Amino acid sequence: MAIPKICLCAAGSTINADLAMVEQYRRYIDLVELRADCLTENERLHIRKFPELAGLPCILTIRRQVDGGAYIGGEAHRTILFAKAMAFANQDRSKNFAYVDFEEDFYVPSLQEAALAFDTRIIRSYHNLNECVTNIAAKINSLKITGYEIAKIACTPRNLHEVSTFFAEAMALSRGDYILCLMGEYGFPSRILAERLQSFLTFSSPADGIPQPLGAPDLDHVDPITLHDMYGIKRITRNTKIFGIAGYPLKSTLSPLFHNTAFRKHNLDAVYIPIRGKEYGEVKEFAGFIGMSGLSITVPHKESAFANLKLQSESVKQVGACNTLLRTAEGWVGYDTDGIGMVRALQDFLEKKTLSGLRVSIIGAGGAAKAVAWAVCKLHGKACVFNRTAARAKKLAGLYKFRFASLGPESIRLLGEYNDLIIQATSVGLDAVQAGPGTDPLYFYLFNGKEAVYDIIYTPELTPLLARAQSAGCRISNGRSMLHYQAYEQFKLFTGETY
Ligand code: ATR
Repeated sequence: MAIPKICLCAAGSTINADLAMVEQYRRYIDLVELRADCLTENERLHIRKFPELAGLPCILTIRRQVDGGAYIGGEAHRTILFAKAMAFANQDRSKNFAYVDFEEDFYVPSLQEAALAFDTRIIRSYHNLNECVTNIAAKINSLKITGYEIAKIACTPRNLHEVSTFFAEAMALSRGDYILCLMGEYGFPSRILAERLQSFLTFSSPADGIPQPLGAPDLDHVDPITLHDMYGIKRITRNTKIFGIAGYPLKSTLSPLFHNTAFRKHNLDAVYIPIRGKEYGEVKEFAGFIGMSGLSITVPHKESAFANLKLQSESVKQVGACNTLLRTAEGWVGYDTDGIGMVRALQDFLEKKTLSGLRVSIIGAGGAAKAVAWAVCKLHGKACVFNRTAARAKKLAGLYKFRFASLGPESIRLLGEYNDLIIQATSVGLDAVQAGPGTDPLYFYLFNGKEAVYDIIYTPELTPLLARAQSAGCRISNGRSMLHYQAYEQFKLFTGETY
């Protein structure tokens, strides 16, 4: 079994910028791909010396715009550039390009021969920015014109189902030299699970260009340190257990950082990946195809997960929601860890064991509010559920004999009666960049400064609601503590160990 190499994609505008990237990541990478198409015209004159300066095996790539690159010159000029980069082959092979990337339709016999003579391996590549390849085996065979090449397929699934199909096909291939890589919003699992795809390498990009909201990794690109240290891709084998978080749009999530760090601390052979999928059915299909051991379920799949459960744990029965799935010999079993996460987070926040004697407003009556209501009941709080759709508030409140009301100025008096603790559990304010219309679900309520306000949202760290409460002098908390506590419980379910 071969461990996939980590390749840094160096796409700076100057050779020096690319060399600086190599220096930054040298400890973590096996290869560097020089994206000569991204260099300025002038800098392209100097690509011949790159392998010697980089001191690592190098791939030379001059990607055309049609294939997602930045090269806009003609093919004749590109051929000359390739020729210059491969010319004057050095006796010391480490000073030559180890690999050169030629696209499927780029076949220049003299360059082919030069590559063969100078021991530069050809990566014969196929890119599709719009679709995913089906029948991978046939595509690999058609790419291997001489039999000496490494076939590369980089394509773009349009949904998670296509990712599953791609994985299923790749896992059934007999081992060979090829590179398989999925691009676009669904492609991320292919970067981490390159071992399952039996890919020769996996691509990574410098972190500088990757947005990192809240320190959570971006889910379209991954930098070498995150690949190496956080996902531990050099340790992934056929036996490694795979866990993950499934949701959509899943813009940013701290769960991979949390679980992977914990797997490492506990010395467990497991990895945790983010999985984007619009349909819950696709998530289950993916988990089945790659043999996942457990899943965290997030927006918008919690309700579907609950509705489709065949085996319910006690926590699911009690809370009436499901955010965790565990594969067992009998099938997938659903659990809820949000409820207990909320209990612990509220105990911390208020520095009290119970909420007895407190009057609590629960804002919202959706999936997340279910866990909140269960926790408030468990902690003996008296509550009123406020929701835009009053019927939903009524239904949730009915489960715990709480009061209910519509969410709006008409309920301001009632809100004033239940204002020792206000727990915000709607999706309003999520990802709000700044305060503005529609970002504060309690826009009609003026804080008196005595309320304790807990918002289950943690992106942004300070929602418009929390900011307003804070400036009125209230004690506030965002949802990070709940996130952590529910994750501790999940970790215990996944591994049987205490975090
Ligand atoms: P989640 O699993 O995140 O709780 P959900 O079940 O769709 O997602 O619930 C979203 C919650 O946010 C609901 O309480 C919803 O109110 P409705 O039941 O009336 O839909 C609330 N919500 C969403 N958008 C809202 C808005 N613009 N104003 C007020 N409440 C809103």
